Amino acid sequence: MWTVSIGFDIFPFTVLFEKRDNMTDRQLTLELEEHRPPVSPHRLSRQERERLIQRSFHSLYRWYTSRSQSTRNWNPDTSFDWSAFHTNHSPEVVRIIEGFYAVEQYAPDYTYELIRLVRRGYGRSHFTLRWGSEEEKHADLWRNALLFSRARSPEWIEDYTDELRRSAWTTPWEDPIRTLLYTVLQERATQVNYLNLARIARGEGKGALRRDVNPILAELSHVIAVDEAAHFNFFLEGARLYMYYFPEETLSGLKDVLQSFVMPAANIVPNYESFVQVLYDADVFGKRKYARDVVKYALEQLGVKSLKALDAGVHQSRQVPGEDGALFETRVPDALNMTFVEESLERLFGRLQQFEANTYLDRVSPSTFVRVVW
Ligand SMILES: [Fe+2]
Ligand SMILES: [Fe+2]
Repeated sequence: MWTVSIGFDIFPFTVLFEKRDNMTDRQLTLELEEHRPPVSPHRLSRQERERLIQRSFHSLYRWYTSRSQSTRNWNPDTSFDWSAFHTNHSPEVVRIIEGFYAVEQYAPDYTYELIRLVRRGYGRSHFTLRWGSEEEKHADLWRNALLFSRARSPEWIEDYTDELRRSAWTTPWEDPIRTLLYTVLQERATQVNYLNLARIARGEGKGALRRDVNPILAELSHVIAVDEAAHFNFFLEGARLYMYYFPEETLSGLKDVLQSFVMPAANIVPNYESFVQVLYDADVFGKRKYARDVVKYALEQLGVKSLKALDAGVHQSRQVPGEDGALFETRVPDALNMTFVEESLERLFGRLQQFEANTYLDRVSPSTFVRVVW
């Protein structure tokens, strides 16, 4: 069972005050925060914990944007040599590109829906704009791939897009936690799909697909997969924050999301089942890949021990009355490795603080990790 000591040593404070003359106010604030005994989450109101999460989302969003602009600032038209794109692809690979385009071209709907849910939070809603702008580039890139494959005419693509646009994507969840958890799984699944198409384009496909070699397709699939990995990581850190400050609700949400997960737009893309069949036949995606490369991986990264533990953990949690008579959850559900979650968040704040030191944001508005004792 996971336990933590709530005691603390007075010694660090002695050292602190000796050093005070040589420290800036900001250093002192951070040092004090580091040595402050962790508080019980029961002492933090729900609003306070929510505020901590939103504040962290903001810092994470600023860090993310900087990285996005410096490391992934590609353009769907100018960053690839479209003149070298192969035009002899198998119908299966063309169908896969077409399906990827169909799903990504709902980027305005995804962005609109998510912002509607998270608009109250500055960092999370602004991030959603940036995320949407990256998803929009994915749609343009797959559209170019389809066009330069010469397997679909520009008129066909126009008509197909028009047909797709007749339906609008709506979020499967109306609350921000479940939406966040859904996005964690969805981003990872998308990344897995793109990496496996890249494999085919490198000549590592099954059977006849071995002839679908196309270095440009391999390159662009990889480039989008890197974006999807960055999206996954952003949403993952957000989900860890919720796991840390609202473990019961987050685990319960995760259970719900896992029970009904389907890929985005699966219910509105025409002939989606045939697209999925091609993905399975081409070994781009499948039930095993979903279980192992998506669910198992995401659970590990979230600090959830296993699906079985998740199922049992939610029911084993205990509620007791607090000082004011309200009910509180008293311990970490067995399903959650809280030490892992806390250490992951410590590493995250280390990165954020480094970024804020480099950009002088720390002088005006430093981020601190507020630990709690579960
Ligand atoms: Fe995407
Ligand atoms: Fe994405």
